[in-house]
Amino acid sequence: MDNIVIFGAPGSGKGTVSAKLMEHFGYEHISTGDVLRAEIKAGSELGKIAQSFMDRGQLIPDDLIIDILAKVYDSKKGSIGVIFDGFPRTLPQAKALKEMLTMRGEKLSVTLNLIVSEEELMRRLLRRAEIEGRTDDNKETILKRFNVYKTQTHPLLEWFKQEGLLSEFVFKGSAENFAAEIIEKVESI
Ligand code: AP5
Ligand code: MG
Repeated sequence: MDNIVIFGAPGSGKGTVSAKLMEHFGYEHISTGDVLRAEIKAGSELGKIAQSFMDRGQLIPDDLIIDILAKVYDSKKGSIGVIFDGFPRTLPQAKALKEMLTMRGEKLSVTLNLIVSEEELMRRLLRRAEIEGRTDDNKETILKRFNVYKTQTHPLLEWFKQEGLLSEFVFKGSAENFAAEIIEKVESI
């Protein structure tokens, strides 16, 4: 089974690239952001906790997210591959992911790091705000999310590099080329 991490700042295209990989390879998708938004919509206890963090652009506590992730992963058992979108975001999450996979006789296949300029990220998220109305897509919260990404999540790239799992993709203005380059990489693994 392929286990693929999609890594990148808010708005870098983790969800968009995931959709392309699902279509091309038949993978399953785990977006921790989507899982949390579904919990909020359902009005669950977890959703209530998650909302307070997400609305402030903060990460929800590691133990909560790690616990959900294992449950969602087990529900995808038997699939050809799984894409982790938005997880891990901290070193404890990365270590927990590795341990979770090892315990199941699985391992990480590759980490795809999507590199997009901050100017382009802001433009995309403000445009999406008009279409989708996500509560964390406003300028103030977007800037907080960028800051959380820089301080808590971006440093994880060092860990992925040490694990020998990192592939980087720089967005140069064409969505088609970006997606094609990533699909080609995944095909080669
Ligand atoms: P999450 O939902 O993961 O949000 P995010 O990381 O901020 O990323 P986005 O979903 O906003 O962007 P994306 O990279 O998926 O880009 P997309 O494809 O949509 O997390 C939200 C919150 O949940 C976090 O802040 C945190 O509170 C919590 N959370 C989630 N995971 C957690 C974890 N592991 N631990 C703790 N807390 C967690 O693209 C964006 C826009 O750009 C779209 O409109 C798209 O159409 C457009 N676009 C995409 N690609 C291109 C392209 N190539 N060219 C032009 N436009 C493009
Ligand atoms: Mg997303």
